[in-house]
Parts: sequence; structure tokens; C-alpha cells
Amino acid sequence: MHSSQPGFHRVVAIDGPAASGKSSVARELARRLGLVYVNSGAIYRAITWHVLEKGIHTEDIDRIAEVLESATISCWVQDSESRILVDNFDPADHLRDDRVNESVSRVSRFPMVREIVTQKLREHARSDNLVVEGRDIGSVVFPDTPYKFYVDASPEVRLQRRAAQGERDEIALRDHADFSRSVSPLVIAEDAYVIDTSHLTIEKVVREILARLKEMGLRI
Ligand code: DC
Repeated sequence: MHSSQPGFHRVVAIDGPAASGKSSVARELARRLGLVYVNSGAIYRAITWHVLEKGIHTEDIDRIAEVLESATISCWVQDSESRILVDNFDPADHLRDDRVNESVSRVSRFPMVREIVTQKLREHARSDNLVVEGRDIGSVVFPDTPYKFYVDASPEVRLQRRAAQGERDEIALRDHADFSRSVSPLVIAEDAYVIDTSHLTIEKVVREILARLKEMGLRI
């Protein structure tokens, strides 16, 4: 199942570690290309928030499975960006809470959670052309899209970026969890175009990606 099959729209995949700059880049890229911006991490965060709200321990996969089976998770598009509702509540204001930052990598390692998010993303691609950011978008969710980018930055720069956003985020711990989980770990897809953003502005990264997409003949 992939974005170049009939029934799927075009997908530009932007993967990379926490605080690599991929959100800013993906959002701006979507704006310039007139595509819908999807932050897949936000769906993992919304699920994590819901699990925490229900008072469930983030290691308790049986209870997590139970609560997710009865939850309604819906994604829709507003102002060219994907939004998420969990049981009709929009958790957008809570997605970057400290407790969500601390738990999201643990919750997102469960295969059933990954399956839910992967299905949501593929449903999205049935109705819209997308720029999707995440960890496994080019490698697992849309492996056949030709438009794959891996955005990276040095650990020092990524830490500085989070601090400048005023967030407490254990980047080293999340990196470890994201790179080492057994299901869909963060990998650089073989055919991804890699950009180190450590010393680049968002504008420069966006231009580089746009130039690459043009070379590849992307037509929207
Ligand atoms: O992009 P972010 O930092 O908001 O993502 C939050 C967490 O969600 C990240 O630590 C791992 C998980 N995630 C994932 O496993 N796969 C994705 N495609 C996106 C995010």
C-alpha cells in the first residue's frame, strides 16, 4: 500500500529525530506546494495524552489496547493542516505537555498503536496530497513514495532548539527509544535525501527540498 498506487495522492515524506527542524520545514513546504501538512507525531502524542488522561500506566499494553479499542480517533483537515479529535475532544493544547513528552516514545513503540496511526495516515492520503512528517513515513507508512527526505541536526543544536522553544524534552532518551524500538524504528530510508540542518535556516532547507522535488519532476 503506498502513495503511488491508484487511490493514493502524492506524499512528500519528511522524517528525522526530535527537534531536527522537520516540523517547521514540513509546514512551510506544504504551504508553498499547496499540500496538506500532517504531523504524525501529533497523532502519537494525542494517543499518549488520552492514555495518560485515563490514568493508565504507559507499560500496561492490555489496558492501552482496551482503551484504544473503545476510543474514536478522527483526523480531519482545517486550514490545510491535519487536526485530531479523540472521543470528540481536541487535545491540541496538551500535546507538548511535559508528561506527554516523557511518555510518547514509550506508547508509540507498541505495534497496535503504530498500526492505528499508520492506517490514519494512509486514509488521509486517499483524499489529499500531503507533506507528512515523522519517523517512519518514508520507510514504513509510504515506502513507495519517491519523495523522501531525512532531516537531521547535531544533538547539541537540537537541544538548543528545544530550549529556545521553552520546552523540557529529554531528547537523548527519546532518540534512544525512537532509534532502538523493534517495530518501525527511526531509520534513514535507503532512497531518502538527507539534509543536515545544523547550520541552515528553515528557508534554506525548504529551498533545497523544493529544488530536489523540481528535479524529480513533482507536479501537483
Ligand atoms: O515528532 P515528535 O517529536 O512530535 O514525535 C513524538 C514521538 O512520536 C516521537 O518521540 C516518536 C513518535 N513518532 C513515531 O514513533 N513515529 C512517527 N512517524 C512520528 C512520531
